[in-house]
Amino acid sequence: MHRRLNAGVVAGRCAKVEVRVFFTPSELKEETVRGNTVVVIDVLRASTTIVAALCNGARGVIPSGSLEAATELVVKLGIEDVLLCAERDVRQVEGCDLGNSPAEYTEEIVKDRLLVLATTNGSGAILEARGASRVLIAGYVNAARIVATMKKEKEVVLLCAGNNGGFALEDAACAGMLLRRFIDETGEEVLPLNDGAWVALDLGRKTANNPLRLLRRSAHGRYLDEEGFGSDLVLCAAVDAWPVLPVLRDHIIVPSE
Ligand code: MLT
Repeated sequence: MHRRLNAGVVAGRCAKVEVRVFFTPSELKEETVRGNTVVVIDVLRASTTIVAALCNGARGVIPSGSLEAATELVVKLGIEDVLLCAERDVRQVEGCDLGNSPAEYTEEIVKDRLLVLATTNGSGAILEARGASRVLIAGYVNAARIVATMKKEKEVVLLCAGNNGGFALEDAACAGMLLRRFIDETGEEVLPLNDGAWVALDLGRKTANNPLRLLRRSAHGRYLDEEGFGSDLVLCAAVDAWPVLPVLRDHIIVPSE
């Protein structure tokens, strides 16, 4: 279905891109993923953490679907420069090297290291997208890189990691902000969008000016704050702070040039 948007038209229009937004990984079908570019969004906090790690020189991040699988992989790799990074109920899992706070992923700790990451929602959502022709990782922190890449694609799926199988306000709002920016920058008047994209677009428009306020209002943001991770919200809301484009290549998320 094509509908008319009020976005301003600018010169140099690019080819139409079909954009679909899904609020949870369970909405994905195999045919939705296959052959498309899937952008996985887990603003609080896996996406932001991955971007921080790559920005600070990590060699790559291997997403893992479970703590057990992550631990086994680290043992199997058996090399010194591998770090086991795992979060459950927002806290670092005992015995692991790092948790899921982007603040922990400093250059001093992650540079030239390979990270194996298991988080409650984000790492699993990335694995759900594996059948795509391209898997990218997005948050507010690398929005500009994601929008620039969207302009080169024909079909883009924005996949929100959500929260424990349900809707997460921050992921939906970030998807909407990316889409709004894409429309504003390309001047696209009419796009094939799914229903999720229309909802995200509206939310993105209303909240784009103050992502931090949105994160502080979201259920997961409030929980992180209660658990002592309030400063992470500031890092996760920093639009375009870390211009890295994380791309999944052969099971490892690496920075694209
Ligand atoms: C997740 O993957 O579920 C999140 O990133 C949780 C968190 O805030 O650590």
